[in-house]
Amino acid sequence: MESKGLLLVALGVWLQSLTASPGGVAAADRGKDFLNIESKFSLRTPEDVAEDTCHLLPGVTDSVANCHFNHSSKTFVVIHGWTVTGMYESWVAKLVAALYKREPDSNVIVVDWLQRAQHHYPVSAGHTKLVGKDVATFIDWMAEEFNYPLDKMHLLGYSLGAHAAGIAGSLTNKKVNRITGLDPAGPNFEYAEAPGRLSPDDADFVDVLHTFTRGSPGRSIGIQKPVGHVDIYPNGGTFQPGCNIGEAILAIAERGLGDVDQLVKCSHERSVHLFIDSLLNEENPSKAYRCSSKEAFEKGLCLSCRKNRCNNLGYEINKVRAKRSSKMYLKTRSQMPYKVFHYQVKIHFSGMESETQTNQAFEISLYGTLAESEDIPFTLPEVSTNNTYSFLIYTEVDIGELLMLKLKWKSNSYFGWPSWWSSPSFAVEKIRVKAGETQKKVIFCSREKVSRLQRGKAAVVFVKCHDRSLNKKSV
Ligand SMILES: *[C@@H]1O[C@H](CO)[C@@H](O)[C@H](O)[C@H]1NC(C)=O
Ligand SMILES: *[C@@H]1O[C@H](CO)[C@@H](O)[C@H](O)[C@H]1NC(C)=O
Repeated sequence: MESKGLLLVALGVWLQSLTASPGGVAAADRGKDFLNIESKFSLRTPEDVAEDTCHLLPGVTDSVANCHFNHSSKTFVVIHGWTVTGMYESWVAKLVAALYKREPDSNVIVVDWLQRAQHHYPVSAGHTKLVGKDVATFIDWMAEEFNYPLDKMHLLGYSLGAHAAGIAGSLTNKKVNRITGLDPAGPNFEYAEAPGRLSPDDADFVDVLHTFTRGSPGRSIGIQKPVGHVDIYPNGGTFQPGCNIGEAILAIAERGLGDVDQLVKCSHERSVHLFIDSLLNEENPSKAYRCSSKEAFEKGLCLSCRKNRCNNLGYEINKVRAKRSSKMYLKTRSQMPYKVFHYQVKIHFSGMESETQTNQAFEISLYGTLAESEDIPFTLPEVSTNNTYSFLIYTEVDIGELLMLKLKWKSNSYFGWPSWWSSPSFAVEKIRVKAGETQKKVIFCSREKVSRLQRGKAAVVFVKCHDRSLNKKSV
């Protein structure tokens, strides 16, 4: 198979040198570059997203027409990562299918470097330089031979493939339009200089999803530091919902052992599926928010969209090039569609309660024009009077415009003893809620002048303050 490809390249180069007499020497020189290329470039089709049925052979002009490459459409170049099995992972075909679904006229090319990707990790990591060089040679050839515009070229690399894409981008004569790094590999790259890994210089625009960065820097599967123009850390970037061992065992029980491989790489590969989600669910992109830290995001302090502080995750991202790289965060569901709706909730506690309560559990319910989301749990590390607390909650459903809210302070004790006579309480007058997705702010008021929120007692109802004043007038 491989020798056949090489033979074709050799044949093509030889034919070219025969036919193109003035440029014959130059063509032969270029031929040598092409002969060093080990990576294969398969132009997949919407009809057969899983098989390499037609290869574009750098140096062999006819191969491009033979594979029905569309010169007026955009091109996606998909680059896989390290492989234990020496085979494509199942996400490759899924990503190709999603790209064709979204852009039916596009060219989706899959780079096959499986031979070099199945060694011990450090060896394969080193091979990204060779793969990057192959891809750059291919891209330069497309640009020179066919005048194919590189502003239509989008590289997508997963894990080690993200760095191969970056290296390719840094070596091409002109910049490619975009590189998307899908959880770029961490080991051997966390401390590498920019030319040896994915970096913002590698394309006109570089966007990166970080989904499995758990562990100390340099040891985590995914790279921790920002390496693009926009770096998004879903669920903090460390680990993804639905990927813990318990859930994995449950999924194996339900779906059989076939998915074990998938589950081991669950968080790492989530980056790919988040991107696929953005291709398929175009009308409703997930939004990510710029934030100084994961902790600040958890407090709900970063749900602003002013001055490009928020962006769409995935295909429809806005090409923002900030001066310094910054991290963006969001929460997601554990399955596709991954989108959730983010809210910042700010509550001011007052009243006579003098003791500070630690690790208190609450539940909040949101009611909107479209749906409701009830009993969303949250914990405050400490609560004391005359203080305002801000925190993040999210709903899996779109509840629409907010109408009403219920707040419950949960009992500390499952046994229910003395709480009925000694349980603390705070007065709550107003609750401020800001919706990230709509950027709307709503102030909720207690239906009395103030409400007493008592631990272990029934939920307290809050309505939009405006509504309350209307109600009063009409009564
Ligand atoms: C090539 O793509 C363009 C859109 O980019 C489309 O209009 C055209 O029909 C395509 N050509 C072929 C032969 O599919
Ligand atoms: C809380 O504020 C009220 C009104 O400003 C004040 O009377 C009260 O002493 C404060 N309580 C504490 C514990 O600071």
